[in-house]
Amino acid sequence: MTGNPQRKYRADYQPPAWLIDDVELDFDIGSAQTHVRATHSVRRNPDGPAAEDWRLDGRDMTLVSVAIDGRRLGESEYSCGDSALVLHGPPEAFTLTVETRIDPEHNLSLEGLYRSGDILCTQCEATGFSRITYFPDRPDVMSRYVTRITADAQAHPVLLSNGDCVEIGSAGAGRHYAVFEDPFVKPCYLFALVAGDLGVLRDSHTTPSGRTIDLRLYTEHGNEDQCAHAMASLKQAMVWDEATYGLEYDLDSYAIVAVGSFNMGAMENKSLNVFNTACIFAAPETATDDDFALVRDVVAHEYFHNYTGNRVTCRDWFQLSLKEGLTVHREHQFAIDQGSPGVTRIEQVRAIREVQFPEDAGPRAHPVRPESYVEMNNFYTITVYHKGAELIRMMEAMAGRDAFIAGVRHYLAKHDGQAVTIEDFVVAIEESTGLDLAQFRRWYAQAGTPRVGVQTDYREGALALTLTQSTPATPGQPDKADFDIPVSVALFDDAGRMVREPEVLRLDTAQAEWRFEGLAGEPTVSALRGFTAPVRLDHAPDDAALARLMAHDSDPVCRWDAAQSLFLKTLVAGVAARSGGEALPEPSERLFEAIAHLLSNPPADRALLAAMLTLPSVTRIGEEFDAIDIHAVCAARDHLKQAIATRFLEEFEALRADHAALQAYVFDVEEAGRRRVFRLALDYLAAVDAPGLRERALELSRTADNMTDRMAALEALRDLPGAARDTALAEFAERWADYPLVMDKWLRLQAGTRRADSVEQVTALLDDARFDFTNPNRVRALLGGFARGNPAGFHRADSGGYTLIADQVVRLDALNPQLAAALAGLLTPWRRHAEPEASAMRAALARVGEGVHSDNTREIVEAGLAEAPRSG
Ligand code: PHE
Ligand code: ZN
Repeated sequence: MTGNPQRKYRADYQPPAWLIDDVELDFDIGSAQTHVRATHSVRRNPDGPAAEDWRLDGRDMTLVSVAIDGRRLGESEYSCGDSALVLHGPPEAFTLTVETRIDPEHNLSLEGLYRSGDILCTQCEATGFSRITYFPDRPDVMSRYVTRITADAQAHPVLLSNGDCVEIGSAGAGRHYAVFEDPFVKPCYLFALVAGDLGVLRDSHTTPSGRTIDLRLYTEHGNEDQCAHAMASLKQAMVWDEATYGLEYDLDSYAIVAVGSFNMGAMENKSLNVFNTACIFAAPETATDDDFALVRDVVAHEYFHNYTGNRVTCRDWFQLSLKEGLTVHREHQFAIDQGSPGVTRIEQVRAIREVQFPEDAGPRAHPVRPESYVEMNNFYTITVYHKGAELIRMMEAMAGRDAFIAGVRHYLAKHDGQAVTIEDFVVAIEESTGLDLAQFRRWYAQAGTPRVGVQTDYREGALALTLTQSTPATPGQPDKADFDIPVSVALFDDAGRMVREPEVLRLDTAQAEWRFEGLAGEPTVSALRGFTAPVRLDHAPDDAALARLMAHDSDPVCRWDAAQSLFLKTLVAGVAARSGGEALPEPSERLFEAIAHLLSNPPADRALLAAMLTLPSVTRIGEEFDAIDIHAVCAARDHLKQAIATRFLEEFEALRADHAALQAYVFDVEEAGRRRVFRLALDYLAAVDAPGLRERALELSRTADNMTDRMAALEALRDLPGAARDTALAEFAERWADYPLVMDKWLRLQAGTRRADSVEQVTALLDDARFDFTNPNRVRALLGGFARGNPAGFHRADSGGYTLIADQVVRLDALNPQLAAALAGLLTPWRRHAEPEASAMRAALARVGEGVHSDNTREIVEAGLAEAPRSG
C-alpha cells in the first residue's frame, strides 16, 4: 500500500465558501470522448468561511479551459491537479465556465459518465459528479440545472436528463439535441444523464389533486416484457405515499432507466432514476418470488427518496442515514402493508441480526452517523441503511404512527429545499411529537449492538422482571453510555393464553426492574415483540417455554424466534461436541414434539410456517460463539437438518405434494407462501436424498412455469450425487443463455455448491464466457455467491477459498474499487473465527493490502488489520 489518503471528520464541517445558484451543462457526446461545457452562476456564501481561493473537485478528466465572466483564465489565476481545480481569488459573484473532456468508454469504475452495454449513463452519488466536471462535489451546494445533450441520432435516439424536456432538435450531420430543465434545486449527486437506443414502457398516474404524471421505464430493446411488475410497483408506491404520508409527486414526468452494469441496486436521481436491471426485471419465467419482492421494494425506495432525500437532502455525507435510514423505514412500512406483515418483518429482523450485528461487532463497526471516513463509498452500509431504519422505527413506536407521520411532514415542510443534518430531523420530530429524544440521540453516535439481559423472579403471583444493558467496545469507542431502549413485553400462561397485554418498557439505565402482580402462576415472558429495538436479547426460556411461545405467541416475530432458539440450543450443543471431537448429539424429543405440533397446527400464513421450519443460517449459528468453528457449525446444521428430515419424511413428502403449483404463476401473498413451503419441503427431502427426489426435481426444473419452483428444484439437486444435477444445470444454462440475470443464478448455484472442489469450480467459471469481470452483477453472483453463500468452501482448510477471493479483489481493485472494497470486506471478520481459519483469513487480507491501490480497498484492509478495540 502506498500514499496517505485523507481522512475526513464530521467535526470539521465548514459551509461552502461559494454557492452556485444555476448550473448549465452542455454535453457533446462523441463516438469516443465526451466534451462537457459547464456554466455556473456563482456567488460568495454570506455564511461561509472567508476563503481567498475556491477549490472545485475533479478527477480523471482533461481540463480544456476555464473562464470567469467570459474571460479565459491565464495560468497564474488557477491551478489544476489530480483531484481539484483551484481558482485563485475569484470575485464575489461571477459566471464560471469550465470545459472538460471525459472518457466514458474506458470508465470501468461505474461512477461519473460510463457505458453500460450500448447505454451511456451517469452515477454521481456520492462523489461521481466530479468525474464529469470540476465542481464543489458536496451535497450542501444546491443549484437549478439546465442540461443540453447533443449526440448521434442513430446511436443515441433517446436523450434524458433531470426535469422537463423543454427543447429538441436536429444538430446537423446526423446528430440531434435535447434540453432539460429541472425546476427544483438539487445537489450534484442527484444529477443524471442517459443517452442510448432504448425501448420504453409507458404508463401514467393521476394524483389525488388531479395531476397526471407521465411514467416511463426504459431498457435495452427486447426487455420491455420484463418491466410490467416494476411499473405496477411504481404506481403502487405512488398511491401508498399519497395515502400514507400525503405526499404527491412534484413533476410531470418520472423516468426509470434500467442498465446492466451498476454498482448498487438503484439511484434516486431527480425524476430520472437509474436502476440495476436486477431491481427492475421480473417476469415469472425468469425471476423468483424474492426477485419480485426486491423489485417492488427498490422501486418504492427510490420513489420515496423524492421527498426524503431529494426535496430535503443531506448537508454532508456523515448525514447519509438522514435520507437512507428514513427511506428504508418508509420502504419497510410499504412492504409490510403489501400483505404478509409477519414474515416481512421477520425478513427485516433477519437482515439486522445476520448482517448488521456482525458488522457492528467487527473491525468496521461505525455509528449510524459516522465520525470519519476515507472513502464515502465504504459507508453505504447495512448499519447506515438498516440500523438507521430501526432507529426511525423506534421513534415511530414511541410517537405512534399518526404522530410520527405528522412529524415527518413537519420535517419536510420546515426544511424543503435544504441540505440538513440528522440533528435537524430529530429536532423536527421532537417539535412535532413532543417526544424527548435527548438520550435517544445516542443511538446515532454510538456503534455496537447493546446486549439486553432478561431475568425473571416469580413469587406468589408476582413476577419481577429485570432488564439490564451493556454494549461492547467498538473501534474508537471503548466505553458506552446507556441507550434508551424500548422493549415490548407480554406474558403468557401455561396454556398459551396471553395474561398481560404487550407493553413497551423503556430501559434507559444499566438495570431496571418491573413488577407484574396478580398472576395465577409463573408466566412465560415474550420479549422484544416485533423486534422493538436492534439489540441482542440474552433471554433463556426453557424448552417448554419456547415450545409454548412457538405454538401460541400472537407476535409472528417471537413465534419464529422461539423456534429459532429451540433449534439453536441443539445446534450449539452440536457445534461444541463436534469441536471437541465427539459425536454429534441427537435432537431432543422436545424439539421433535414442537415441530410435530407446528406441522399439525400450522399458522394460516404459509410463509410463516416455512420461516419457522427453516433452520438458523450458518451465520446466525456463528453469532452464538466468540470464536466460530465454521466446519463444526456446518456439520451440526447438516446433522440437525437430516435428523428432522428423517423423522418427518412423510410429512415433508405430504407438504411437497400439497403445495405443488395448481395454477399458472401469480405473484401474491397466498401463492408465494405456498411456494415457500414447497421449496422448504424439497430442501428437507434433499437433505436425506429422499427416494424419487432427484427424478422429481429434474422433472420440475424442466417443466415448472416459473423461476421460483425451478430454482427450488435446482437448489435441491445442487449438492446431490448423480447425473441429475449436472443435467439440470446444463439444460438450465442452455435455456437461459440470453438472460444475464438468470445466468447469475446459475453462477450463484455453482458458487454455493457443497462439493469439495468448489474453489476449483469457481476458478474455472472466472474464465467462462458467461462470466464478465467488468459487470458487478456477475462478480457478486460468482465471487459474492461463493464467499457469502458457501461457508464450507470459502473457509476450506487449505485456504484456497481465501486466496481465491484475495486474488480477485486485487484484480478488481484496478477496475472497480468500489466493488473491490465490498468484496474485501468479506475477509475482515477474521477475528470472529477459530484457528486455523482466523490466521489464514488475516493473511489473505494482508495479501490484499499488498496488492491494492485504491483508497476504497485500502481503507477496508486497514480497518480489518487494526488492533481490536477494548473497553477502557
Ligand atoms: N442512494 C442509492 C439508494 O439507496 C444507493 C446508491 C448509493 C446508488 C451510491 C449508487 C451509488 O437508493
Ligand atoms: Zn436509498
